[in-house]
Amino acid sequence: MTIDKLDAGARAILTANDRGGYTVPNGQVYPFQWNWDSAFVALGFDTYNRDRAWTEVETLFNAQWDDGFLPHIVFWQDDPGYFPGPSVWATGKTPVTSGITQPPVAATVVRKLWDSAIAASADDAYRLRLESLFDKLIAWHRWFRDYRDPDGRGVVVAMHPWETGRDNSPEWDAPGEPIDISGVGEYTRRDTGHLDAKMRPTKLEYDRYLALVQYGVAQGWDHAKITAGNPFKVADIGMSMILLRANRDLLHLAEYLGRGSEADELRQMIDTAEAGIGWLWDDAKHSWCSRDLLTGRSSGFITSASFLSFYAGLADPAKDAAMLAHLHRIGSKVEYLMPSLDPEDPGFQMIRYWRGPVWAVVNFMIGTGLAEAGFDAEAARVRHDTLALMERNGYYEAYSPVDGSGSGGDDFSWTAAIWLAWSADR
Ligand code: GLC
Repeated sequence: MTIDKLDAGARAILTANDRGGYTVPNGQVYPFQWNWDSAFVALGFDTYNRDRAWTEVETLFNAQWDDGFLPHIVFWQDDPGYFPGPSVWATGKTPVTSGITQPPVAATVVRKLWDSAIAASADDAYRLRLESLFDKLIAWHRWFRDYRDPDGRGVVVAMHPWETGRDNSPEWDAPGEPIDISGVGEYTRRDTGHLDAKMRPTKLEYDRYLALVQYGVAQGWDHAKITAGNPFKVADIGMSMILLRANRDLLHLAEYLGRGSEADELRQMIDTAEAGIGWLWDDAKHSWCSRDLLTGRSSGFITSASFLSFYAGLADPAKDAAMLAHLHRIGSKVEYLMPSLDPEDPGFQMIRYWRGPVWAVVNFMIGTGLAEAGFDAEAARVRHDTLALMERNGYYEAYSPVDGSGSGGDDFSWTAAIWLAWSADR
């Protein structure tokens, strides 16, 4: 297929999934606004419709709670095609939202939108919009500091596997065991009505997801109570790296806008993260790994999120070398980088969601980080593999790293957006 056709196809997906001010990830499987999906989608829009790109992020932040929390789903309108819907979350907010968040990529995206506005001499027209988003972004980042890092370690502690955006990664298996699923009751999943169950999380995983939602409901979605007593607390390597990166980008914007006291606050958050993130290094695995806050145990799993250390700007030569060695080893085992789980792990499954498949948005962050760190060959491989998957198979939710086949839903918004954003500098 020609590049023009690929571009047109990607734009057509964003148009089809546009619900007016926000974009659904996929009309069937995910019919609402998702947090980090929208941020990545904005990067796609920015390649041809700047105003619409900003609107995507602004609409998401219109659902921000007073305490700075930004929900992982906004139910702007109900849809029976998804479970658990608004009545299960029962957060009592308007608009109705879920009660957990998602990886904070938005500040990094807003910085990119802003840089692109400057490059097009459109900054005057967008300055007020930037100022308004800046206030909302920093409120969200403070919320992470106050409610997602109970021990003040400079990491991000997920209170739900869905919060990590990597729903069924094996990193959550052992920490999920103590979750009491006895009161979950009967329910009907919708995801397996749309897609092959082999590509989706298991029943046990879903029971745990729902038990944690019910726990949040029982706490009235009071984030302080959840932070204190949640039965699942995992320092997620992905969100920890993503927030560190996002704080650096927000600091850049604070300096640009002359926001001195906020800049100091952000420097403090960055210092805390840089000082504390070493706790997530697993010496036995020679890798960055998520760690259970409640037991202190490392997951020991090398996942695609482990490779976000470059994106976080950690620049630690010994650890970088170890991660590059993993990248080369994994790259010799699979056709397409970066599988969501190390293919040498016994639990690797090439089409099951976050236990093997390649996700374009994670690759985009990994590739960006590698390029910034000067690892050009590795950056080029990750980018090339990602774009090749889309050229060959279209814009799937994820892909098998072994044979490149599409996994999950097709016509996926954030995959199409990454095509537009990442192939644009060809
Ligand atoms: C799945 C993914 C999550 C994504 C959502 C919508 O739950 O794991 O990362 O945000 O789908 O695409």
